[in-house]
Amino acid sequence: MEQFEAYLLAHLPSAPSFHPHYERSLHQMLTGGGKRFRPALLLGVVKAYNPLLVQSAFSAALALELLHTYSLIHDDLPAMDNADLRRGIPTLHKTFNEVTAILAGDALNTYAFEVLSHAPFCDKVIVKLVRELSSNGGLNGMVLGQAIDCHFENTPLALDQVKMLHIHKTGKLIASSLKMGAIIVGRDDIAQELYDFGIDLGLLFQIQDDILDVTHDSISAGKTTNNDEAKNSFVTLLGLENAIVEAELLAQKLTLQMESFDENLRRELSPTLTHYINRHKE
Ligand code: IPE
Ligand code: IPE
Ligand code: MG
Ligand code: MG
Ligand code: MG
Repeated sequence: MEQFEAYLLAHLPSAPSFHPHYERSLHQMLTGGGKRFRPALLLGVVKAYNPLLVQSAFSAALALELLHTYSLIHDDLPAMDNADLRRGIPTLHKTFNEVTAILAGDALNTYAFEVLSHAPFCDKVIVKLVRELSSNGGLNGMVLGQAIDCHFENTPLALDQVKMLHIHKTGKLIASSLKMGAIIVGRDDIAQELYDFGIDLGLLFQIQDDILDVTHDSISAGKTTNNDEAKNSFVTLLGLENAIVEAELLAQKLTLQMESFDENLRRELSPTLTHYINRHKE
């Protein structure tokens, strides 16, 4: 992942102009220190099946991280979660202003697809990757999840509805990370299986994030916490103990599934997966 980090730094959006802070605002959250979970998933699948394609896959991994980073910038806006801290630094609307944060998000969203369009793959593969990222990150994916998340603040949903919400706002992008890896290496035969695994993994990731909101302070989380009281989080719905039980059940299911991966995939993904599948125990 060190090499990916260097690639990201070398491919930060370039937008020199007489604007006093537009370009800086585009870089700030990208260099603020995310966990790069989604790129690690994509690159793990590529490394498992065709290590020679890892360098070429950096562009697709960057596209994922760009779209994810835009979603965080907008998620923190006063109209959404109204959060002051992200990735260990003040959110963009705090450092600059709301207009800058909205536009930086817009720019990173579209830059993701610009980067993907330049990926060193054949046009057919690029189109498939664009379709995955846009359908999972867009109107029927992450954005729908965010719309439901914000609309139903202070309105308790049923457990199935909260699962649907979490799968959309978080699960789909995580699932598409694994599937995009499979597309790059031409393993369309395992793409759906990986996607389904990723949906459960993403659901677990969001339940853990809901747990983190009440168990961590903002310094250790690097972002505003204790911010979910009005939300349909697993903790507000079920209480902390039952949310941990739900996380543990999913973690056990995913661990079993991971053990049935073929040897190459297990070797490349299990260090990352084992860490994240168990992070609610930290
Ligand atoms: C935070 O995502 C938002 C959720 C989907 C839970 P991450 O926990 O991956 O945040 P970064 O990328 O490490 O900052
Ligand atoms: C956000 O979920 C998911 C996104 C699509 C960004 P949260 O609102 O729980 O994420 P955090 O806790 O602010 O990182
Ligand atoms: Mg949110
Ligand atoms: Mg939030
Ligand atoms: Mg959260």
